[in-house]
Amino acid sequence: RKRVVVFISGGGSNMMALVAAAKAGDFPAEIVGVISDKADAGGLAKAAAQGIPTFAFVRKDFASKEAHEEAIFAALDQLSPDILCLAGYMRLLSGTFIQRYEGRMINIHPSLLPLFPGLHTHQRAIDAGMRIAGCTVHFVTEGMDEGPVIGQAAVPVLSSDTADCLAARVLTVEHQLYPQALRLFAQGKVKMEGGKAVSTDAAAAPAER
Ligand code: GAR
Repeated sequence: RKRVVVFISGGGSNMMALVAAAKAGDFPAEIVGVISDKADAGGLAKAAAQGIPTFAFVRKDFASKEAHEEAIFAALDQLSPDILCLAGYMRLLSGTFIQRYEGRMINIHPSLLPLFPGLHTHQRAIDAGMRIAGCTVHFVTEGMDEGPVIGQAAVPVLSSDTADCLAARVLTVEHQLYPQALRLFAQGKVKMEGGKAVSTDAAAAPAER
């Protein structure tokens, strides 16, 4: 089983979806640690209650972004993960960080990328008059929310939607998509090659299903 460390900043519902999926005996990955940049992230207690080691590295406790990331690297070196999953981690990683884990780090973003990268995705989707919205799991590369797409899931946008109720609808499919995408990646059925997500198993390629 591949060793996975999950990065969070908040409630950690996606992290918990990965933890729940990993309980299945045939899941090809296990969650070996959870790292947060917020000491009070709700997900930390949830992970700890599952017996998963948790770490909080608060940026203001460090003199620089480099020092902050060095502390994270030291924790990662202890955990020796095969895969990093960003799950609502709301801090941009440096180029050094991304290069260190390139091809081994995936993220979930609550829009159908390349539409609506960055913040306030749900309000922007509503303002644009979108009739569908969704989420994307992608490899992390240096451009924010720009890496190759592993999988996506869509939901309708209703005319009565606020950003909050659309976010809640998208979140339900995030919880399905992220474990599916991690499963494919951990099985080696998708990898990043030449700046693209390449499926090594046509039957499992999300884009071709
Ligand atoms: C999720 O909707 C995730 O897609 C989003 O934050 C939420 C975290 O919820 N991520 C981003 O916006 C990344 N830019 P969770 O902590 O309950 O998983």
